[in-house]
Amino acid sequence: MSKSFTSQVEYLSGKGDGVVVCEDGHTYFVPGSWPGDVIVFRVDQTPNENEKFGYASLEEIITPSPERVIPKCKYQGHEVGKCGGCPWMIGNYSSQLKHKEYRVKYLLEKSQLVTGATSLDQIVPSPKKYGYRNRCQIKCDGEIVGFVSAKSNKIVQIDECIVLNEKTSNLLMNATAKAWQAKTTHAVNYIDLDETMNDSEIFLNKKRAFAQGNNDQNEFMKTWIKNALSKIENKTSILELFAGSGNFTEVISKCSFETIFAAEANGPGIKKLIQKNIPKVKPIAMDLYRKTNFNNLPPKAFEVSTLLVDPPRDGLGASKNIIPLLSKLNTIVYISCNPETFVKDLRFIKTQGFTLKYIAPIDMFPHTHHVELLSILTNVQISPNNCLARQEIQR
Ligand SMILES: C[S@@+](CC[C@H](N)C(=O)[O-])C[C@H]1O[C@@H](n2cnc3c(N)ncnc32)[C@H](O)[C@@H]1O
Repeated sequence: MSKSFTSQVEYLSGKGDGVVVCEDGHTYFVPGSWPGDVIVFRVDQTPNENEKFGYASLEEIITPSPERVIPKCKYQGHEVGKCGGCPWMIGNYSSQLKHKEYRVKYLLEKSQLVTGATSLDQIVPSPKKYGYRNRCQIKCDGEIVGFVSAKSNKIVQIDECIVLNEKTSNLLMNATAKAWQAKTTHAVNYIDLDETMNDSEIFLNKKRAFAQGNNDQNEFMKTWIKNALSKIENKTSILELFAGSGNFTEVISKCSFETIFAAEANGPGIKKLIQKNIPKVKPIAMDLYRKTNFNNLPPKAFEVSTLLVDPPRDGLGASKNIIPLLSKLNTIVYISCNPETFVKDLRFIKTQGFTLKYIAPIDMFPHTHHVELLSILTNVQISPNNCLARQEIQR
């Protein structure tokens, strides 16, 4: 029989769960708890050897945190059968922002990536707290259509989602009303919905091109990128990695670079980017997580002075190995949707002579632990080793 304990929740983990230090000497993640709560929790799994954290379940809130609010969504919750999409809806919005900012600062300081030369900006709140999302993925098992349940891979049937914007909400209602039974091919299928589609494009298991999920914050990011790039003096050419369907490429094309090399995986994103036919842009379809694929880049792409990257949550992965090959590189604009992989990548980028000049967190997804980062790195000096490495790949 697992034991129950009482403790105050101290902070939130990287994945957004409340963290308690227990009288048994261990530290536990407790989903559904919020910093400041005094809770009773049941230990589900003590930490294994070499692990710092164990897992526990919330049994009772003895004293609620002053930051707690009643979630506006009827499906929200941390138990099986509840929607796990917006776990932070239990905290007021200003506390959500505070905890996101705290996590970013903590990671940067722990990794010693912030220097006297770094400007660390305040988090940019989302103008809309509800009705902000322009896309979502729902699941279907042949009978039920809905979102994935907290703590399991079961599906929670839903008939509305208050964080979706109007267009995507309408698509959701039409998608959940459809009879999918005859068409299901796997035990669990997905349906991608986004505001740019209409009902006739609702299909099972058909991946749609990536889109930034919050229109207001996307506009903010685009303006920020335009301003950041306009300050660069040497605007010969730029390499954009993880360009998607050209959301940022269109902004870059207005920033007086001579050539823009835009690389993206072979899929729906690059197809859209090619169709856009943006002046001065050279789209390149390639798997950026395969280092050997760098050979597919045109030689001129190794002569860029600026690099802009916006990788998925996994971070740069093998694509970071291109940095030492760019002998003329002096500015990196790194847009990240995962502070943990961002910090890991920055440790490598730092070894290449770059310093973090500016960083700002931005809240793209209210009521979740996700936080986006906008950053600029500049190089201290161009290392002769970098030039050598580049010559090697060109042979
Ligand atoms: C965070 S999105 C950025 C997209 C774009 N910057 C935008 O604002 O819409 C990351 C992009 O990386 C692409 N991607 C994921 N894995 C990749 C890979 N192995 N190689 C190249 N691109 C990849 C995804 O398709 C997606 O378009």
